[in-house]
Amino acid sequence: MLTEDIKPIVKTMNSVEDTAALAYRFAEILEKGDILLFTGEIGTGKTTFIQALAKNLGVKELVTSPTFVIQTLRESGRIPLSHVDLYRLNNDDEVENIGFEEYYDTAVTVVEWADRYSGFEPPYIELHFEYGLHENERIVSILSNGGDWNKRLNNIL
Ligand SMILES: Nc1ncnc2c1ncn2[C@@H]1O[C@H](COP(=O)(O)OP(=O)(O)OP(=O)(O)O)[C@@H](O)[C@H]1O
Ligand SMILES: [Mg+2]
Repeated sequence: MLTEDIKPIVKTMNSVEDTAALAYRFAEILEKGDILLFTGEIGTGKTTFIQALAKNLGVKELVTSPTFVIQTLRESGRIPLSHVDLYRLNNDDEVENIGFEEYYDTAVTVVEWADRYSGFEPPYIELHFEYGLHENERIVSILSNGGDWNKRLNNIL
């Protein structure tokens, strides 16, 4: 998934608040049809980021990880938010059976454990989360693939 020839934008977050602040800025540039793919180990902050993103989109419902239901659509914000978590899925066929692409055009789609599926088509951005050097440090590498993502990211990063 990671395209090697394009340099990612790398950000270090020193606290949950830092991560939330970055996610807040992201929320401001989001539009219907956007696809954000989240990768990275358990506990690196994917859901934490998405919660803050949702909050700044105006989503009223509590945003938890949809691990057990795989996909949730929250419609109380500025744009509907489709939140997908592929952690429990094992292959592309299982992923295709969920049918979350139904919301591609009308919502912002955020996908945790996106590397479980090989079929995502650009334009999208990938946000890869890693642990940092201390307990509350996280590092995110942001890689855009297609569309006008680079231009939009320039406005907030
Ligand atoms: N800088 C930080 N950014 C985000 N989370 C942090 C940070 N520092 C500490 N944390 C903690 O790390 C945990 C991140 O959990 P979170 O559920 O967001 O991870 P996740 O990547 O979604 O995991 P999973 O793969 O299980 O879904 C939380 O307990 C959060 O409080
Ligand atoms: Mg999560």
